[in-house]
Amino acid sequence: MSNINTAEIEILFSESTIAERIEELAREIAALALPRLLVVPILKGSFIFAADLIRAMHRAGLQPEIDFLMLASYHAGTESSGRIDVLRDIATDVRGRGVLLIDDILESGRTLAYAKGLMIERGAVDVRTAVLLEKPNRRAVAMDADLVGFSCPDLFVVGYGMDMAHSYRELPFIGVIRQHARP
Ligand code: IMP
Ligand code: MG
Repeated sequence: MSNINTAEIEILFSESTIAERIEELAREIAALALPRLLVVPILKGSFIFAADLIRAMHRAGLQPEIDFLMLASYHAGTESSGRIDVLRDIATDVRGRGVLLIDDILESGRTLAYAKGLMIERGAVDVRTAVLLEKPNRRAVAMDADLVGFSCPDLFVVGYGMDMAHSYRELPFIGVIRQHARP
């Protein structure tokens, strides 16, 4: 348990567990040998995962270009509604390139399916997806990630970039809130 601003958070994946897994994912990505690799983190939730994964990719010998896509998937509370809007588009031409999309969690699959469709429609030749967490049995559309950090229990998780009502992104680990007491 970790006590942060009076919220009680149970740690599910520690900093060191995440760091070790990211080194493995980076080596798997390097083995894909994607052509003229463009890495596209989907903001905001993936920003910390992406920053760590991209540096691990450097250690694995890759020299990717990076651009950012910000999507909004509308939620009623903690449930996905299905509508997705592009809040910030990439400025890079993806024609003929390999693209690695990075997201924090694969849940309904709508976010990643939308982003993948966009890249393919624009002419990317090989679009792969990496997610830190996957929640099994929650898919609303047929979507699997090529690389998955960890399988996640069907709980609302926070930290390591992921928020609950705009809080907790700064936590260096992934946890579950047992007692929510932030303003
Ligand atoms: P999908 O489109 O349903 O696959 O939703 C994926 C997005 O929902 C992720 O990128 C997260 O931003 C958000 N999300 C889903 N589950 C959680 C969670 O447990 N904690 C925080 N964000 C979540
Ligand atoms: Mg997200």
